[in-house]
Amino acid sequence: MENIIQLYPGPTQEVPIKNLYLSTPLHEIILKEKEILVYSNFITSLDGRIAVTYPAGGGMTIPREIANPRDWRLVQELTVQADLVITSGRYLREVAEGHGQKILRVYEDPPFADLKDWREMSGMKLWPDLAIISNSLDFPIPEFLTHGDRAVMIVTTNHADPRRVKALESQGGKVILAGEDHVSGKELVKRLTGLGYQRVYSLTGPKVLHLLLEADVLDRLYLTIANRILGGESFSSIVEGGLFQPSRGFRLRTLYYDPHGLDGLGQLFACYDRARISG
Ligand SMILES: NC(=O)c1ccc[n+]([C@@H]2O[C@H](COP(=O)([O-])OP(=O)(O)OC[C@H]3O[C@@H](n4cnc5c(N)ncnc54)[C@H](OP(=O)(O)O)[C@@H]3O)[C@@H](O)[C@H]2O)c1
Repeated sequence: MENIIQLYPGPTQEVPIKNLYLSTPLHEIILKEKEILVYSNFITSLDGRIAVTYPAGGGMTIPREIANPRDWRLVQELTVQADLVITSGRYLREVAEGHGQKILRVYEDPPFADLKDWREMSGMKLWPDLAIISNSLDFPIPEFLTHGDRAVMIVTTNHADPRRVKALESQGGKVILAGEDHVSGKELVKRLTGLGYQRVYSLTGPKVLHLLLEADVLDRLYLTIANRILGGESFSSIVEGGLFQPSRGFRLRTLYYDPHGLDGLGQLFACYDRARISG
């Protein structure tokens, strides 16, 4: 894979894209600075689209025009560092329908076999555990998730339908109640901290990002900005929900320019750290 260019912090220099996000592993931050680190990532077009409606109609999907293997490699490098991955009921429904990116089966693709070795060398168990955020509880747990040593939790509200709770428990899931009308980010992170998780990776979309930001528990945001403008009227941006009062601030931590991505159009890999809420 061709090199990328580090723009910030200076000095500007060429660096390999492979292992970019593994070169400063997240567990070092945990040991030095924090008890738990919650991080997320998105790829967005220049006009702020992270998802558009499927060409054939129906639900939303990551736009084909911006998804690309160089960014996907970095997503896997973030996944492999997590001890828990957050996903959503919507994603599990997509898996049940036979599509949906293979975000939960990283090492089965040969290009990512080295990440399995990285994980083993780090002393972590093979698969990160899973927290599925859902109000509806309207999805099955696929068998491949409960094979092996992966714990599957479903995080929902106090008003969850008891029949659906029972059904998910019978499929190997553990149901956690964390909120009244919707899952509360504060309660979620409190419960995960109590269970000993340290590196929590949200692989979900704009509503879950909103609940994390609302509770001010998102520590780090990785943002890939793909050099294409998509247009269209039906789309999602990185966050969906009410206005934040006050707005949430983030500080740039690193910025890389990838001139080779998207057939030479290029993309930026930015990483931001949470700034304390003021005012
Ligand atoms: N471009 C990118 O980098 C990127 C990254 C992530 C996702 N996406 C795209 O964005 C779209 C939406 O993704 P997503 O569905 O994973 O994310 P989402 O919009 O954050 O989550 C939606 C689902 O999560 C559950 N949920 C969200 N907030 C909740 C709350 N406060 N309490 C209880 N349940 C809650 C609901 O599940 P139930 O319906 O089961 O109640 C809801 O359907 C998809 O098309 C995806 O492909 C793009």
